[in-house]
Amino acid sequence: MRQTIVAGNWKMNASKEEVSTLVMGILSGMSEVESKVIVCSPFPYLSQVEALTTHSQLHLGAQTVSIHPSGAHTGEVSVDMIKDFGADYVIVGHSERRSMYGETDQDVANKVKTVVDSGLTALFCIGETLEEREAGETEAVVARQIQVVIDTCGIDAFRNIIIAYEPIWAIGTGVTASPQQAQDTHASIRALLATNDENIAQSTPILYGGSMNPSNAAELIACEDIDGGLIGGASLKAEDFLQICKAG
Ligand code: PGA
Repeated sequence: MRQTIVAGNWKMNASKEEVSTLVMGILSGMSEVESKVIVCSPFPYLSQVEALTTHSQLHLGAQTVSIHPSGAHTGEVSVDMIKDFGADYVIVGHSERRSMYGETDQDVANKVKTVVDSGLTALFCIGETLEEREAGETEAVVARQIQVVIDTCGIDAFRNIIIAYEPIWAIGTGVTASPQQAQDTHASIRALLATNDENIAQSTPILYGGSMNPSNAAELIACEDIDGGLIGGASLKAEDFLQICKAG
């Protein structure tokens, strides 16, 4: 019922030349892919990726956004600017933005609201630290992160939200959550949504992120409540990324 979604988060990587090689490589294998595929480019390359992907099955996303519509916000990028380049998705609340740039749960919720209100879809990231997991707090942490979004945006906003569960200890470390660990957390997220709205709980895609790669993707995506992946490192090589896309 829920379509598999695979999203690449390039983070602050690539050059014009590398973007071109990567996108052309992904496009060359897309005919064998059934999943919905999104690439989240750094801002300067949105225009280039838009030009390369017009009339293709590849969807475009950005990696963050300002909550302000326009004006004196040096260095920021608005939802309208992102829309101007044909992007339909924005990653919000990635743990790197939370930990390195001080984005709080409420800041993240405000960004989700800005994205959803503009008609774009938010790739809303949540996840616990290693300390929180070891303390048995995983479910409580992700529930708190989601609850702030429900309180700020309303449960209906989840029609335009894709959740990405990304345990922080698994991001960029080569350590992946086991399928059981990931499935348990995804099921708890869906149960929380169901206490608000059963239909939304069933239709909201919940992706797993954190060292997903061609050798572990199929097993993770096969889990009942894992609807795809948010891929960092492995999204920078067309071949690896395509293998993950085909695993769905
Ligand atoms: P990773 O990153 O696949 O390199 O662990 C995932 C992410 O940060 O979204």
